Amino acid sequence: MQVMASLVVLGLCFMVLAVEPDGAYGSSRGSLAGNSAAAAAPVTNGICAISVTTHGYKCEEHELKTDDGYILNMQRIPEGRVGGSRGGQPVLIQHGIFADAITWLLNSPEQNLPMILADNGFDVWISNTRGTRFSQKHISLNPVQPEFWDWSWDELVAYDLPAFFGYVFNQTGQKIHYIGHSLGTLMAMASFSEGHQADMLQSAALLSPIAYLSHMKTALVVLAAKAFVGEIATMFGLAEFNPKGPEVSAFLKDLCDNPGVNCYDLVSAISGKNCCLNASTIDFALQNEPQSTATKNLVHLAQIVRDGVIKKYDYGNPDDNMKHYGEAKPPVYNISNIDRELRLFISYGGLDALSDVEDVGLLLDLLKLHDVNKLSIQNIKDYAHLDFIMGVNAKDMVYNQVVKFFKYQQ
Ligand SMILES: *[C@@H]1O[C@H](CO)[C@@H](O)[C@H](O)[C@H]1NC(C)=O
Ligand SMILES: *[C@@H]1O[C@H](CO)[C@@H](O)[C@H](O)[C@H]1NC(C)=O
Ligand SMILES: *[C@@H]1O[C@H](CO)[C@@H](O)[C@H](O)[C@H]1NC(C)=O
Repeated sequence: MQVMASLVVLGLCFMVLAVEPDGAYGSSRGSLAGNSAAAAAPVTNGICAISVTTHGYKCEEHELKTDDGYILNMQRIPEGRVGGSRGGQPVLIQHGIFADAITWLLNSPEQNLPMILADNGFDVWISNTRGTRFSQKHISLNPVQPEFWDWSWDELVAYDLPAFFGYVFNQTGQKIHYIGHSLGTLMAMASFSEGHQADMLQSAALLSPIAYLSHMKTALVVLAAKAFVGEIATMFGLAEFNPKGPEVSAFLKDLCDNPGVNCYDLVSAISGKNCCLNASTIDFALQNEPQSTATKNLVHLAQIVRDGVIKKYDYGNPDDNMKHYGEAKPPVYNISNIDRELRLFISYGGLDALSDVEDVGLLLDLLKLHDVNKLSIQNIKDYAHLDFIMGVNAKDMVYNQVVKFFKYQQ
């Protein structure tokens, strides 16, 4: 019971949906998952149809294959609403954990990042990593098989990201601006630190960056991660972690019914106090998220919390690590190895409980030798984790700066 509960808390802390601005959902204790399952948009409609073409934008659905056989889905918004010339510089937008491409498209066209970029002349590509609703295909595996879920963010770094970059680069013939949020920033930094994608990458904007996770302002999550990281794997058999599934729902409810645990306060405390969310947007979000991920992915993140080191998945014993890595310990991702000439834009929130200010400080320390002319850092004092993707004023606070950062290079 405790194991499950802590797993759920751990899951929640990366969840993109769990906070609302005005307490409107404060009474729906433990029913987050149930809500979203009941109202999930039909899978037959792609993301273009659900939330892009309805606003008068052109949108293309794309499918591509990773080197380990996953078939992934992307959306492309090739031009602005009023048309104009195609052939703008490509931007690849990568969501975080428990999210998918639709996360970026919840607010109005005037407020959401992909459409703002399209209206500014960029060729916008939005990715969906393996395991999310529209990326649940594989050349030989099926999502009901545990093997389908045998991956962590190491595989997102090693397979999904190269597949997205390669595909967009092939389609456009131009270098790519990257935007990541949350886990989408960790994926990118890990990849860039190993020198991958360098020939296809123009620059990168990292929103709510996640590298270190040791200062999260959520004692419970840290405790859970530290205490139960080993048992979680055994419980779930390293298969699918479906936040909408009955097991997770039941245990979430269980957790919320604990005396002394107020889920509204808990969830706020976990994610940070977002300043600027729109209740209607949260409604829309709950119809479409959260997305499944691999339990192994959560275990890997828990290891980062526990160990305070950014490294590959730890198989838990020297023999198994040796088998996978040829070393007794998992190799470290050395973030300081990121090309010092790479143009980077980093934006973080003063109230973000996940991308904690102190952890961001540690990250910036790793980047202290970065060419100062190539590194822009923005701190938004009253922003928390979700404001960066759903804030009603994110255009003024963040996206205009991102657009400027990209355009300034051209
Ligand atoms: C890019 O295009 C080349 C030539 O058509 C092809 O061989 C290669 O597999 C493509 N790569 C990707 C990642 O799509
Ligand atoms: C909140 O969302 C609704 C529905 O999309 C919209 O009509 C309203 O203008 C939004 N409010 C703000 C402050 O953006
Ligand atoms: C990480 O990379 C930096 C820069 O290349 C190097 O100076 C440092 O020694 C590396 N650290 C480790 C632990 O390998």
